[in-house]
Amino acid sequence: MKIFSGIKPSGIIHLGNYIGALRQWVILQDAHECLFCIVDLHALTVRVDPALLRRLTLETAATYIACGLDAKKSVLFIQSHVPPHAELAWILNTLAKISELKLMHQFKEKSKSNPENINAGLFDYPVLMAADILLYDATHVPVGQDQQQHIELARELARRFNSIYGKTFVVPEGMIPPRGAKIMALDNPAKKMEKTGSIGGYIALTDTPDVIRKKIKSAVTDSGSDVLFDEKKKPALSNLITIYHLLSGLSIPAIEKEYQGKGYGQFKKGLSDVTIDFLKPIQQKFSECMGDPGALLRILEKGACAARAQADKKMQKVKENIGLIA
Ligand code: TYM
Repeated sequence: MKIFSGIKPSGIIHLGNYIGALRQWVILQDAHECLFCIVDLHALTVRVDPALLRRLTLETAATYIACGLDAKKSVLFIQSHVPPHAELAWILNTLAKISELKLMHQFKEKSKSNPENINAGLFDYPVLMAADILLYDATHVPVGQDQQQHIELARELARRFNSIYGKTFVVPEGMIPPRGAKIMALDNPAKKMEKTGSIGGYIALTDTPDVIRKKIKSAVTDSGSDVLFDEKKKPALSNLITIYHLLSGLSIPAIEKEYQGKGYGQFKKGLSDVTIDFLKPIQQKFSECMGDPGALLRILEKGACAARAQADKKMQKVKENIGLIA
């Protein structure tokens, strides 16, 4: 398998990003060829403060390493350091149909929440994402559930390009984890946990123990008091149990047994302890990385060089097949 995935530096990385994406990446890098990208061009579709974007880009890279990505095993790089991403996106734009881009859930949601800035980049976002993936012949793309539709589009664009210009791209497959593919907001279990959502809705990987306890304490729960996993009847609690399960490694029945008859309060205290313990080494490593931005940038430059070599080779083939003089 060849793996490609990325996170956009549009906010602080939270437990949803970790559980839906990063957690898989760390496991995959041991056995597969992997590229993990900080997709900074994607972050430009909303108005951003340049200083903040620079900081979030470095923080995202530091988070990758803090969570266990290893530059010796994976290629870690910043999207804008490899210009073929934008170049291929332009070419794929000529195949993507306005009618199919209009169907993208994320475009529809973001247009609704940001009506004053529905820019062409927001509309075109999934095409750039397809370029990211297709440029490296990735066979598998580990992401959370919210990206499934975008992966489908990348598959469709690969097939379309291949049928018009001859076999050029690998048709990639999404890898959606069986559990935790959509972690919901703590303050509203009907909405997914989001970087740009309300502060009480997400647990950032950098949240302090006090903040974590406060957020979990005020997390919405369902009626009743039994700690039971039932996504239909107890969606809020099932979300919290999923987080507990994936961070502690305890099975769901073992968690239910542990908190039998103890009520939500005890369970929330236990979940806070598990989360704080889990994040402690990640936060330590994150601080170390952010304390040495020079070292971080060297890793990213080396990664960009390796990615660039692959991307240039692919672009050569794309140009030949499409009739551009390479
Ligand atoms: P982004 O930055 O929104 O999210 C990064 C990853 O985290 C997953 N995720 C979640 N998983 C579970 N529960 C949640 N609440 C949750 N929220 C986010 C996302 O599914 C994603 O895997 N478009 C992408 C970035 C991207 C990309 C790519 C990904 C650009 N090019 C190429 C893969 C391949 C995005 O905005 O992710």
